[in-house]
Amino acid sequence: MRGLSLFSALFAMLSCTAVVAASDPDPIGTIYNGHVPADLYGSNYTYPWPVKLYKFYNQHQHLEMAFMDVPADRHYDKNKTAVLLHGGNFCSVTWSDTARQLSAKGYRVILPDDIGFCKSSKPQGYSYNVQQQAENINSLLTALGIDEVTVIGHSMGGMIAARYGLMYADTIKQLFLVDPLGLEDWVAKGVPYLPIDETYESQVVQNFTTLKAYEEASYFYNATWEPAYNTWVDMLANIYAGDYGLEYSYVMALVTDALLSQPIIYQLPLLKTNTYLMVGENDMTALGKAWSSSAVAATLGHYSVIGPAAAALIPNCTFHMFPGLGHAPFLQAPQEFYKVLFSWLD
Ligand SMILES: *[C@@H]1O[C@H](CO)[C@@H](O)[C@H](O)[C@H]1NC(C)=O
Ligand SMILES: *[C@@H]1O[C@H](CO)[C@@H](O)[C@H](O)[C@H]1NC(C)=O
Ligand SMILES: *[C@@H]1O[C@H](CO)[C@@H](O)[C@H](O)[C@H]1NC(C)=O
Ligand SMILES: *[C@@H]1O[C@H](CO)[C@@H](O)[C@H](O)[C@H]1NC(C)=O
Ligand SMILES: *[C@@H]1O[C@H](CO)[C@@H](O)[C@H](O)[C@H]1NC(C)=O
Repeated sequence: MRGLSLFSALFAMLSCTAVVAASDPDPIGTIYNGHVPADLYGSNYTYPWPVKLYKFYNQHQHLEMAFMDVPADRHYDKNKTAVLLHGGNFCSVTWSDTARQLSAKGYRVILPDDIGFCKSSKPQGYSYNVQQQAENINSLLTALGIDEVTVIGHSMGGMIAARYGLMYADTIKQLFLVDPLGLEDWVAKGVPYLPIDETYESQVVQNFTTLKAYEEASYFYNATWEPAYNTWVDMLANIYAGDYGLEYSYVMALVTDALLSQPIIYQLPLLKTNTYLMVGENDMTALGKAWSSSAVAATLGHYSVIGPAAAALIPNCTFHMFPGLGHAPFLQAPQEFYKVLFSWLD
């Protein structure tokens, strides 16, 4: 399998080199608004709004980013757009209820699946660095003609959102970070390097049971597991079990490698946007905990400590900590989450 992944990565690079020579790819990309199959790039979860594709050329290959474009259902004086960035164990669709709420408040809502995730392309030879993911989101918004946006990112999506804030400050109206990853430097705290091939081996065996156990311990620590959470674990387990399960596992290994090397904590003081940080007091999420010593693991992922510390580093930050909630406050206590979000939204 490892050999195959490397071979296909190499093949993709070789074959795309030929494409570069043969044509001049559109630098902006195009929006495809036609029929898409129910199972797209290995995700068969049903999305509540039409799935569109942003087709673009990047890192010497043709890619397709799936997204939903939810119209504002009331007409306000100004056009407002929000983009919702999903976490690594989630998909854009996990934000659906939040998207409905925003739409009702007059926001057009863009819900992209990051490259590598869910219903988007899963390139095997690709740098999944966080700036690249932020640039991909910006390219999509540019192709849609959107030049000002409210960015809301959760978990890995929060890390991408923060990078987006650093790269495209002028285009952001408000920046919301919901339990973002990278508020601590896991490696500096002692997380050892795990080779990509070993991360792959740990990914490829994931199933409903292992994913639920992880989420219960890190995302919903000291909370009752609600049946509603099963939907999101099923969505993910089906990707691992689906037609692109091996490719997805390898992407997750590449993504983990990229995230571990790019914590956002050092650049938070450089943010020039109005930033709104919210974390769950009981969030225990940290990359690398599983392969660290128990002494190191015990120091990681204490959002009740790293949340306020990160807020103090951001020049213009409004901060809220949800008492008793974990990594995904918008799933665990949606009403509490909306109360804070809508008290902060312009
Ligand atoms: C809002 O968007 C619509 C459609 O893009 C456009 O026709 C209209 O001029 C915009 N209104 C304002 C106030 O920007
Ligand atoms: C899920 O994966 C674990 C670890 O690989 C394995 O022990 C377990 O049997 C699997 N469960 C199911 C239902 O496949
Ligand atoms: C777990 O939650 C209960 C309330 O539901 C609280 O009394 C207790 O202190 C919490 N324990 C930890 C370790 O956070
Ligand atoms: C979705 O994919 C999973 C994994 O391949 C499969 O078990 C499940 O039956 C599929 N669901 C639908 C509705 O096709
Ligand atoms: C923070 O943002 C608010 C709202 O836009 C603004 O009024 C204030 O001047 C900003 N403060 C700093 C230090 O940038």
